[in-house]
Amino acid sequence: MPDSHISSADADERAAAKPGALPLVFERVSYSAGATRILCDVDLALKAGGPTLLLGPNGSGKTTLLRLAMGLMAPTSGRVTFSGADAAPRGSRAIVFQKPVMLRRTVAENIVFALNAARRPAALSDVQRLLELAQIAPLVDRAARRLSGGEQQRLALARALAREPQVLFLDEPTASLDPASTKLVEEIIGHVSASGIKIVMSTHDLGQARRLARDVLFLAKGRVIEHAPADRFFTEPSSEEARRFLAGDIVA
Ligand SMILES: Nc1ncnc2c1ncn2[C@@H]1O[C@H](COP(=O)(O)OP(=O)(O)OP(=O)(O)O)[C@@H](O)[C@H]1O
Ligand SMILES: [Mg+2]
Repeated sequence: MPDSHISSADADERAAAKPGALPLVFERVSYSAGATRILCDVDLALKAGGPTLLLGPNGSGKTTLLRLAMGLMAPTSGRVTFSGADAAPRGSRAIVFQKPVMLRRTVAENIVFALNAARRPAALSDVQRLLELAQIAPLVDRAARRLSGGEQQRLALARALAREPQVLFLDEPTASLDPASTKLVEEIIGHVSASGIKIVMSTHDLGQARRLARDVLFLAKGRVIEHAPADRFFTEPSSEEARRFLAGDIVA
């Protein structure tokens, strides 16, 4: 990777300069849509450090949890706090969804737009750094909407990183990517994490979770069943649901 990537020292400086978004704490958070309870009494604390991976069957509430943490919707009951405050510092969070929406512009213009939206001057060096970090520098003048799914996902990562977030939420970022694109995205996630940005990410790819996770949050039926260090979760999960999930059984 080129030298221009965010270094740990830069990240430490930024973390010191900004008020914190971490720890990100859920206190008895529930979310309902009409009569349907989607998340139920979720208590958790996400701290700075390596990636937290959200695992759980389809419909277990992973996306809902990420959207609540991102502030895209409010809990029906309970509280989400950021370093003790009810609001996260402006620009401290960013999210990338499984199917990112590209602006009908070039790759470079998509990044410039993201820098401007973050109210940061779109310096050429910033654009270049983000292009290199996301490994899309050769695509700089291409129409963003004509990129492949994997290329679009890397551009979406670059746009999210333009905000210089403290926390980056990723909702199944490699779900429709082939192994080579997945590997690239995992590499980028590794660099981003090493730079001090907290990654909170859902996936159905257990191999990927083993490769990336520092800790695992396992959900089933809208509840957090386990939150454990990754090595412990994968070797000796404490719940029957997680054991069955890891064994490939269907967990409703
Ligand atoms: N606005 C809504 N109205 C009704 N039901 C909803 C709404 N949003 C989510 N749900 C339901 O809540 C449950 C949890 O959804 P969510 O998308 O958070 O699960 P998930 O763990 O991300 O699943 P997947 O692995 O399939 O992405 C699902 O059954 C979903 O259909
Ligand atoms: Mg989901």
